[in-house]
Amino acid sequence: MSTLNEAQKQLAVNGGEKAVTAIEAPSQPKVGVDEFMELADTWGFSDEAKGRILDAIKDEPLGGGPHLTRYYNPRPSKVDAMEAEVREFLGTKYALALHSGTSALETAYVAGGVGPGTEAIVPAYTFFATAAAVVAAKAIPVIAEIDESLTIDPLDVAKKITPRTKAIVPVHMIGTVCDMDPIMKLAKENDCLVIEDTAQAAGSEYHGKRCGTIGDMGCFSISSYKYIGAGEAGLVVTDDERLFTRAQNHHDTGACWRPDRYAEERFDGELFCGTNYRLSELEGAVNVVQFQKAPARLARNRKVYKTFVSLLQPHKDILPQQVRDLDGQVGYRLQFFAADAAHAQTLAAALQAEGVGASVMVSGGARDWHIYKYWEHILKQKSSTPVGCPFTCPYYEAELPPYAEDMCPRTLDLLSRCVSMGLSEWYTEDDCKQLAAAVNKVLGAFHEPIEGAGWHDITP
Ligand SMILES: Cc1ncc(COP(=O)(O)O)c(C=O)c1O
Repeated sequence: MSTLNEAQKQLAVNGGEKAVTAIEAPSQPKVGVDEFMELADTWGFSDEAKGRILDAIKDEPLGGGPHLTRYYNPRPSKVDAMEAEVREFLGTKYALALHSGTSALETAYVAGGVGPGTEAIVPAYTFFATAAAVVAAKAIPVIAEIDESLTIDPLDVAKKITPRTKAIVPVHMIGTVCDMDPIMKLAKENDCLVIEDTAQAAGSEYHGKRCGTIGDMGCFSISSYKYIGAGEAGLVVTDDERLFTRAQNHHDTGACWRPDRYAEERFDGELFCGTNYRLSELEGAVNVVQFQKAPARLARNRKVYKTFVSLLQPHKDILPQQVRDLDGQVGYRLQFFAADAAHAQTLAAALQAEGVGASVMVSGGARDWHIYKYWEHILKQKSSTPVGCPFTCPYYEAELPPYAEDMCPRTLDLLSRCVSMGLSEWYTEDDCKQLAAAVNKVLGAFHEPIEGAGWHDITP
């Protein structure tokens, strides 16, 4: 054993006096009153209200800590609480909160194995993110027609399935629901996944089951512009533990989500290079409340929709949107098809003149990221570098789909003659009566009424 010299004996590790006994610098919270007041400002509180908030919080000791991060936060996590609300609301085993609906889609695709050499079938009418995230996952988007429900046409999906199809992506558009039974059947027969994009229809149901929980995975946008949400957030939900774990990995490649962050891979495919799509606690806190409010909102919207359509008179040559589950849809918009685009414009203009906020889905040549025709990133196979990945991927052993502006003519036709109007959850019975009277007045000025039938009795 070596003997210690005098200097070594003085080391604290050898029983000597500690060199550092007290640090005077105060520990200050990183997030405190100033940030709180910035938020009050962002949300547009008046100076008087801000003064009152300041009085209430200025002496509140907030302590140190990460505050707005989900993981390693000493307080109960708001994002955890949001996920618990979501599991309760949707009835799924697993829910993962992320920072957007787009990141949720990419994460679900990657988790499900949508990647090089594979295809995912998306509808020709959806927000572009549904298709763009397929490309971000390095797979090939195959674009399918919609039908009179304004959602993906299962008959066209059947035509577009190939041995490379890894996922079908039904999108529940504008609060209505896809025809999930035939889609699930097709997926089963062809051994592929169903990944539901429920960004526009959170809370909707199909045959008594919440949309987003019928397929293998459900994706949601929880942003300000969506039915549930007030900022920027997204969700992936599933009952499958393996898919959930892979989704967790993609959303946080730093692996903070793992029970033992630095442990070796627990199963083949658990760990791969992902990204960071973690959700902030700030968003989590807002969305806990958003999900708590959702059932009451849904009940109000459904009541308004039903009251409104019960007052509508069906007319010849006017086809109501085919709603696949009337009790289950959210019901925040009403749509119908005129016989042609010009007449749809005439009806929308007449409705506007009556005081109804109606418009035609596709108007003139106005560009719109919801319509495949304008997805030139895909139609012209644009990619972030000149090598053209994934469209030139050697693992993709087939001709690319016949990308062209006119590849889904039925979708373009339907959207060009579809008149759409919003329905507020707050409409009173009298509001519904006035608005329905206006719609009946305009339709009645051009069309013969169909007696003895309800609005949704009319089918193509
Ligand atoms: C159908 C659909 N999918 C995905 C998204 C993307 O969601 P986010 O804007 O949260 O990324 C949207 C948003 O508009 C959408 O409407």
